[in-house]
Amino acid sequence: MNKTWWKEAVIYQIYPRSFMDSNGDGIGDLNGITSKLDYLKYLGIDVIWLSPVYKSPNDDNGYDISDYQAIMDDFGTMEDFDKLLAEAHKRNIRIVMDLVVNHTSDEHKWFMESRKSKDNEYRDYYIWREGQNEQTPPNNWGSCFSGSAWKYDEETKMYYLHLFSTKQPDLNWDNPKVREEIFAMMKWWCDKGIDGFRMDVISMISKTKEMPDGKVNGLYGDYAPYSVNGPNVHKYLQEMNKKVLSKYDIMTVGETPGVTTELAKQYAGEGSHELNMVFQFELVDYGGKYGKWTDEKMPLTVMKQIISRWQTELYGTAWNSLFWDNHDQPRAVSRFGDDRPEYRNASAKMLATCLHMLQGTPYIYQGEELGMTNYPFQSPDEFRDIESINGYKEWCLDGKVSHDVFWPCITWKSRDNARTPMQWDNTEYAGFTAGKPWIAVNPNYREINAKAETADTNSVFHYYKKLIALRKEHPIMVYGKYKLLFEDSEELFVYTRTLENEKLLVVCSFSDKEIPFTIPDGFVRKPCLISNMKNAYDHQDIVLRPYEAFVLHRYQQ
Ligand code: GLC
Ligand code: CA
Repeated sequence: MNKTWWKEAVIYQIYPRSFMDSNGDGIGDLNGITSKLDYLKYLGIDVIWLSPVYKSPNDDNGYDISDYQAIMDDFGTMEDFDKLLAEAHKRNIRIVMDLVVNHTSDEHKWFMESRKSKDNEYRDYYIWREGQNEQTPPNNWGSCFSGSAWKYDEETKMYYLHLFSTKQPDLNWDNPKVREEIFAMMKWWCDKGIDGFRMDVISMISKTKEMPDGKVNGLYGDYAPYSVNGPNVHKYLQEMNKKVLSKYDIMTVGETPGVTTELAKQYAGEGSHELNMVFQFELVDYGGKYGKWTDEKMPLTVMKQIISRWQTELYGTAWNSLFWDNHDQPRAVSRFGDDRPEYRNASAKMLATCLHMLQGTPYIYQGEELGMTNYPFQSPDEFRDIESINGYKEWCLDGKVSHDVFWPCITWKSRDNARTPMQWDNTEYAGFTAGKPWIAVNPNYREINAKAETADTNSVFHYYKKLIALRKEHPIMVYGKYKLLFEDSEELFVYTRTLENEKLLVVCSFSDKEIPFTIPDGFVRKPCLISNMKNAYDHQDIVLRPYEAFVLHRYQQ
């Protein structure tokens, strides 16, 4: 297996709107991020993935871009960006940009031209189709953010495709001019010195020419068979690799809804000349009662099967990326751990142990290193996210399901859980802003905040810091081969990693009960690399306390 810096790195995701506000307008910004680089350096991360900072009317908080080569006014200026990049590089922190090129904003100049007339030179930059009439779109596809995936445009009396919001028209990647424009823009950023791209819904850029109705799933037809992992996606990524990516020492990670392990070997295979790694969604897309909205919890055995399949099938051929949460998901500790006050600290550390000891590049979402939790929503008018607002309307206000039934589902999955401001200290608004924040602060900031946790060596923060440091000392954490033990256990996630004559035993309890456990042969009394509780692993038969986690390390004779 090739050794590369991005396999050894730990990535930290920043959602700029919610990270740090430097000028009191209640919105996080670039200078705010720059002011917190020392905090990130102290944590020990290697790379920042910056969610979009480009010019945008903010229909989907920056994932709707109106100018790829300008900075969003709310976030600052290009000078501020250059300063952030220089200051990060000074600290040996790399910056990976979010590349959102499945769609643009409807306020991008390409789309403003495209919609003007059928023979406009930009017409074919987007996907236009005739519908039967103003009420009947070309097919039954539903958009990710509710409603039809087609919008009728008065100007030319045709429909355009938007797999996300109506303000996010899909680009037509089959048009070579679109690809050339995107590649030129990417080169412009690379020449500026950025260190890579996280590619937004990149598995969705190639659509089939025919666009038949999809199987109805929920309220609309499913577009996936015609637009996810589409006919030319690998061809276009190889072209992008050849023309842009291969010319720079950068890292790339594809957000690839619908990816399987087989497809991951193409997208991120060791010799496939596309991307370095991909995000897969099997862990986080589990369940779904009302579209994506659900309060179902994944059984541990299912989680272990999924993780183990990815660990084993990609071994030696492609590279995993590891994450529990991001800006689109609920908070890790609330979802996979236990955010009750007595268990929050232990279960957050247990989840961190479980993830950082796996093979792949770990991603930390801002605040995860503090064990930040889901937000206690009281009412739908607290939502700021377009997906949650539209979802509530489509399912609840339109009367398909009662508020009481739907509420636990939407509050469990809402993306706004992850988007409440970063909790820096225990002053008003958690030290995020001197003004009034654009979205409510989680009231638990008085206990859970960076200032308190950096001062307390028993905090979730210090545990993450230690895990990150261990990765630099122990290549086995990066390159060791994975093996699952006790696969039928619904309480314990136990696995080993092996590299030459070295072995790690990773034991994680996902239970709030005490669980008896027999340490596998050869590990009793071996050095403990890290553990979230004080314990002596010197008997074979021990009792694990709620959410206990530890890693034992041995050399084979
Ligand atoms: C990705 C982003 C998400 C965004 C969507 C449309 O899934 O992570 O935040 O809403 O793409 O760009
Ligand atoms: Ca600001």
